[in-house]
Amino acid sequence: MRKRLGVNIDHIATLRQVRQAEIPDPVQAAVFAELGGADGITVHLREDRRHIQDRDVYLLRKTIKSALNLEMAIHPKIVEVALGLVPDEVCIVPEKREEITTEGGLDVLRNLADLKIVIQKLRAKNIQVSLFIDALKEQIKASQEAGADKIEIHTGRYALAEKGAVQNELGKIVEASKYASSLGLCVNAGHGLNYANVYPIAKIQEIETLNIGHSIVARAVFTGLERAVRDMVLLLEHADKSSGN
Ligand code: PXP
Repeated sequence: MRKRLGVNIDHIATLRQVRQAEIPDPVQAAVFAELGGADGITVHLREDRRHIQDRDVYLLRKTIKSALNLEMAIHPKIVEVALGLVPDEVCIVPEKREEITTEGGLDVLRNLADLKIVIQKLRAKNIQVSLFIDALKEQIKASQEAGADKIEIHTGRYALAEKGAVQNELGKIVEASKYASSLGLCVNAGHGLNYANVYPIAKIQEIETLNIGHSIVARAVFTGLERAVRDMVLLLEHADKSSGN
């Protein structure tokens, strides 16, 4: 089976927020992403509300037909929103105000006690919980201990690696996926994936869902969002067929 594709539409909201306008609407974007074959819609509700707004997540919850994945940090007010919204999935990410995008994985080991409390609350509402982490054994083990259902492996280092280092970074993601799966964790991956680098990641058997945003929205400027999503889905289908799964 091909990997599921979660389309991150934060950058549609970024374009709206730069003008403090009403367009483009991420809710409309979600409809086109679904028409293109998206299996899920991913949004990051940041504490500073730099792109996605509360109004967006509530409207998305009501309108989308696929799965809603809410990325968030464990700030108490954002946790409150998540508990009221009840997305299908929450992906807990680290968040720094000054960063351009999520920079590294979550330090689950260091935040274990706080994470356990938040994960319990979310799971009590039947929300699947994923932790966005680097491809490190100790963080995977800690994710299981924290009570997460899933991990999302941060693919940013792979995406940014110099040519000679790509295989090494890929190897770490393969190993991490196998290890997480052996612990009974579902495995997702994302960050920095694009039409040129997604293929080897899409061939990793243990990975279920890829969350991809920037490259799809960037292509959509020229092709339209439905087509940009469909192009990515076709790549995932091709990767699946050629790996003989
Ligand atoms: N997954 C997570 C947890 C993220 O924080 C992001 C970026 O918002 C993505 C996936 C998508 O990354 P990109 O926009 O680079 O495709």
